Parts: sequence; C-alpha cells; structure tokens
Amino acid sequence: MDRWHTIIEPFRIHSVEPIRLTTPDERQVALEAAGWNLFGLHADDVLIDLLTDSGTGAMSRDQWAAIQHGDESYAGSPSFYRFRDAVQELFPFRHVIPTHQGRAAEKILFSAVGGPGKIVPNNTHFDTTRANVEFTSAEAVDLVIPEGREPQTIHPFKGNMDLAALEALLIERAADVPAVFVTITNNSGGGQPVSLENLRGVRTLCDRFGVPLFLDACRFAENAWFIKTREPGQADREVADIVREIASLADGMTMSAKKDPMANIGGWLALRDDEWAERCRDLLILTEGFPTYGGLAGRDMEALAIGIEESVSDDHIRARIGQVRYLGELLTDWDIPIVQPVGGHAIFLDARRFYPHIRQDEFPAQTLAAELYLDSGIRSMERGIASAGRDPKTGDHHRPKLELTRLTIPRRVYTQAHMDVVAESVKMIHDAREQTRGLRMVYEPQYLRFFQARFERL
Ligand code: F0G
Repeated sequence: MDRWHTIIEPFRIHSVEPIRLTTPDERQVALEAAGWNLFGLHADDVLIDLLTDSGTGAMSRDQWAAIQHGDESYAGSPSFYRFRDAVQELFPFRHVIPTHQGRAAEKILFSAVGGPGKIVPNNTHFDTTRANVEFTSAEAVDLVIPEGREPQTIHPFKGNMDLAALEALLIERAADVPAVFVTITNNSGGGQPVSLENLRGVRTLCDRFGVPLFLDACRFAENAWFIKTREPGQADREVADIVREIASLADGMTMSAKKDPMANIGGWLALRDDEWAERCRDLLILTEGFPTYGGLAGRDMEALAIGIEESVSDDHIRARIGQVRYLGELLTDWDIPIVQPVGGHAIFLDARRFYPHIRQDEFPAQTLAAELYLDSGIRSMERGIASAGRDPKTGDHHRPKLELTRLTIPRRVYTQAHMDVVAESVKMIHDAREQTRGLRMVYEPQYLRFFQARFERL
C-alpha cells in the first residue's frame, strides 16, 4: 500500500446514491429560505455534503449483513453482548452502557456527576459536551496547549492538554472536579491528536489529585493513527494496541459511535466505577431505555460491533486520513489559509485570514460556509463565533480565537474527484474574497444556537 504516492481506497463501491447539480439561482433561493444557515437546507439541494462526519459514513457489506441478524429483544439481546464485547476488546471498561448517540452519554454522565459549583476541564469541549456540562450549572474550561489555538503553528499533537494549566486548576479546585476530560481527536481545535505522552501526563496529575480521567473518544482510531505515525517509538504497533493503551490510561469514556465506528446511529458510556455506573443506568432508563439497548435497535448494535473492528484496520485509516490530507495539500498549494497540520476528519478553513476585512461579530466563518454553498452547492460547517454561543454569566458572545469553517469528510463516501471539486470551489470563493460581506444574526435560539440560528447578508 505504501508503493504509490496515491493513497488507494481499500474497497470497491457496490451501491451509490445519486447527487444533484443545482443552478446558482436555485442555491440562492435555498440558502435564503434556510436563513443563511446550512443546517436548514434540504440535503437534496447539496452537491457534496461536508457538514459532518457523524452518522454519514458508508457502512460496509459486513455491517449491512450484520444488520440482518440483529436481535430485537428488549432485555438481554444477543446483539447487545456482541456490541459490548466489541467495545471491551478495545476499551476494557467494566460497564458499557449503550446510548442512541454521544450527547446522550454526556447528558447522563454530567447529570450524574456535574452540578452547580463543579468544574470540568477538557482539552477543548465539543459544543454538545460544553452544553451538557453547562446545563447542570457546572463550568466547562478548555485547557488545550497554546499551539492548539494557533491555526498556523505546526505541532504534531496540537490537541494536547496544557499540563501546567491543568495542574494549576487541580491545585485550586480538585475537590470540585468530577472528572478531567480529554477529547481525542480534538474536534473543535481542528481534529488535532493528543499524544500518548500527554495522556500519561494527564493520568499522573489525575492520580495525584484523586480525580478520574474520561475520554471523549469519538475519533479514537484516527488519534491512534497519528500516534503511530508521529510519536517516537510507536510506528511498529497496531492501531488496536495503541487504542488499548489509551483506554488503559482512562477511567471511562463517552462515545459517539457515529464517527470512527462508522455506524449511522449509536453511542456509549463506559466506565470502571460501580457506583457511578449504577447512577448512570438509572438515568439511562429514564430517557434512553433499558441498559441492554439504550435507545438503539439490536441491528444498530450489530452494525456497531463490526464497525468498531473495521475502524482500527490500518488500510482503512491510512486511506481515511490520507484523503483528508490530499484535500489539505491541494488547498495549501493554492495558498488557502487552513489549520495546519491537517487533522484527522476535516479541513478547517481559517476564516479570519480568509476574510480579514470581516469582523468576528459579522460571522466570517458562517459567511465562508454560505459563499461556498452559493458557489457550488458544497455544504460545510461553521466552527467559530456562532458555534461558540454566549457566556452564560455575562450573556455576551464567547469570542473564540479560532474562527473556522469545517470541511468534514465522511468516511468511505467521497472519491478523489469530489475532493478536487471541493478544492476548486474553495479557490473560486477565495479569489472573490475582497467583495464578500459578512452576516447579521436575526434569530438566535437559547441552546446550541448554530444549529437553528438565522442570518441576513449585511
Ligand atoms: N464529542 C465530540 C468530540 C463530537 O465530535 C461529537 C459530535 C459529540 C461529542 C457528540 O456526539 O453527535 O453523537 O451526539 N460531533 C458531530 C460533529 C456532531 O459534526 O462534529 P453525537
């Protein structure tokens, strides 16, 4: 596989979904109807959908086959045990609690252990994680290393936790910290990995202060691949083996199985502690269902069990990350400002440098996403001031240092020609950037506003 410069997709495509080309006028009408928010579009009006890599991956032949023998028992389904065993093969936590997706696991865990006066450190909270922490009136703090907030700084592990900052926080507040979180890879920081060395450092601090360490592990396989290819001494290890070492450093995890495990739906909460597990299962029954299905059908758990295995195949991850890097190289060759180095699941366009004349309060990253859609029908996602929401105490916007537009690549879905078209369209709007004006927000929901906010062109 390493013989060619081209990275080969390790599969044949046996089933296709047609995509529709739209006219500029159709896109203008669709975008206005959606309030300049790409979440409001009908997916039929999208050419290449780079909104998210979540639940959008192509399932394999073996996953579809597994779906056929899903067992739909309410309690004690064999599908649950197959799913649980697949999770424990990589993450040998005693308790594995299925949920319908990642944020359900977050909601349950933080309802059980969060609350007023508590504080949760993370390298960078993903937006649902932050929202679920804050919903319990606890505080969510981001302690990524400074390089992780600088789009142009090259660092092999820009997702690393700032250990000195974590230590300082624990010295003052350890008693208020229910758990330290590490997000692998660091989605909000550009899909950037965390090194084993850094995870060991976090573990040492957690041991010293008697605080549990949890992973937000959606992209564990991609993170392990970066460890294999970038961390000294790791090159000869299997990805699965690296994942097991990551797991061995933690006390539990929340998981959206819609990412690396390539399921269309699913998640889990896994942990060692019996008493926490009991509290979480009680909450699970209130909202998700019985502990052997947690909001999932047996067939979903079957697809997951296979997807978990496939996610740690070297050939798969090499192609997956290689495709993202391929797009990154095209854009870099054209001097388009992106977060460097390229992360695992997405290219993050640096909207501040793309549109230096648009103030952050005029939503440059949202503007960029809108312009890309108008140009070609490609859908991307704002990861800047709109996504960051407001400070619950002051009511003012959070003004994140990173103002990014994410081109998120679904797993096993698009070809190299699709990537070429994406690069061409980004170049078109970059060439026209000086004429571009920003946006004004005209409707703002209370929670996770970026999903449903509406905008107008200034
Ligand atoms: N944590 C991280 C790091 C995530 O990226 C996501 C979802 C979640 C938690 C929540 O999982 O969607 O299954 O409830 N990220 C998707 C994205 C939505 O587009 O980045 P979920």
